Amino acid sequence: MEQVVVPHAPPPPGELASRYRAVRTLTERLREPLSAEDCQGQSMEDASPTKWHLAHTSWFFETFVLAPGWPTYRPFHAEFRVLFNSYYQQVGPQHPRPHRGLLTRPSLDEVLAYRAHVDRHVLELLASGNGRREPLTAVIELGLHHEQQHQELILTDAKHLLAANPLRPAYREATRTPRAGGVPLHWRSYAGGLSKIGHSGRGFAFDNEQPRHDAALLPFALSTRPVTNGEFLAFVEDRGYEQPALWLSDGWSTARARDWAAPLYWERRDGTWWQFTLAGSRPLALDEPVCHLSFYEADAYATWSGARLPTEAEWEVAAAGARVSGNLLDSGLLHPAPAAHGNGMQQLFGDVWEWTRSAYAPYPGYRPPTGALGEYNGKFMCNQIVLRGGSCATPASHIRATYRNFFPPDARWQFSGMRLARNA
Ligand SMILES: [Fe+2]
Repeated sequence: MEQVVVPHAPPPPGELASRYRAVRTLTERLREPLSAEDCQGQSMEDASPTKWHLAHTSWFFETFVLAPGWPTYRPFHAEFRVLFNSYYQQVGPQHPRPHRGLLTRPSLDEVLAYRAHVDRHVLELLASGNGRREPLTAVIELGLHHEQQHQELILTDAKHLLAANPLRPAYREATRTPRAGGVPLHWRSYAGGLSKIGHSGRGFAFDNEQPRHDAALLPFALSTRPVTNGEFLAFVEDRGYEQPALWLSDGWSTARARDWAAPLYWERRDGTWWQFTLAGSRPLALDEPVCHLSFYEADAYATWSGARLPTEAEWEVAAAGARVSGNLLDSGLLHPAPAAHGNGMQQLFGDVWEWTRSAYAPYPGYRPPTGALGEYNGKFMCNQIVLRGGSCATPASHIRATYRNFFPPDARWQFSGMRLARNA
């Protein structure tokens, strides 16, 4: 979900300008497979139209960089300051969030022109002396991380929209299908004790990753890879969705009220399970990590299998020394891939966000940033659950071991899966 903070030590302006170009260009490349009509649709309240994402990410730079940093800057359109502000869209009576899909004006072409206008001015500002002042470069860096969050949302929101179409249209054709893994589930033990978690202060981090602090852990073990579709199918076939004893109370009532009988995007046709992907519908691949689970389903599966979900501190201890690589957005697969054979922990980064058993709460000593950028920060630390590790839709330069993503426990439209834990 969206997070806002002023980061430490932004990169130098030249490096920032090339990073700015790269991030903004990638957003537009992610839009290219979509028609103007695709960019308009909104399939549910939590999802936004692609057009809105394109505009809102530009609104960020116009509001927090160009307006304060360029005294004579003329906004592209005065009303956009309100129209594409996520805060007003959440609470404002005139532009409620579920109505984002009703914004047929401005057109997609106008929104793309808005982006070009903002880009021209931000790059000019960066090239000038004014753009090199520390607070502005820090906010530009923040705006790029904000845009990377929206890149992932463009994909997950478009997937949800296309899945609602009976024709099950593909966002784009599959590039390649990774070889099936057949990797057995192993466990890796950790000693526990006092462990440091949270961001150390080097490089960019969101405020919610700080301050770094001690976490006391009992000895524990984690599965060396995420749970697969095949393993989750055994839970489905064992009538896991029909046994209230496996479910958290809220999870059971949610699953009943919404008629959940399998993960989101699973479909049974003539006795065969199919799965909707960004490359269209295809038979369920049993070796791929299970995906599009709510926290409730992940927790019920863990209970059924005699395990539990990891806490976020356990996950972070396991990921602390690991290289940030894997099936992230940069791989181009746009779908979770089977685990590869090998030793040690697998798929910590990429493939699927991993639900933890931790409520999204402030770390000890946490202080939200002040000022306009902090206006909706910290407000999300209620009734949400932490997910770790990034997914096949997360840009590689956006994720790290300390990164805390968070969603409500009933959210299923993100690339969310699970890894198992148990007490040692
Ligand atoms: Fe945002």
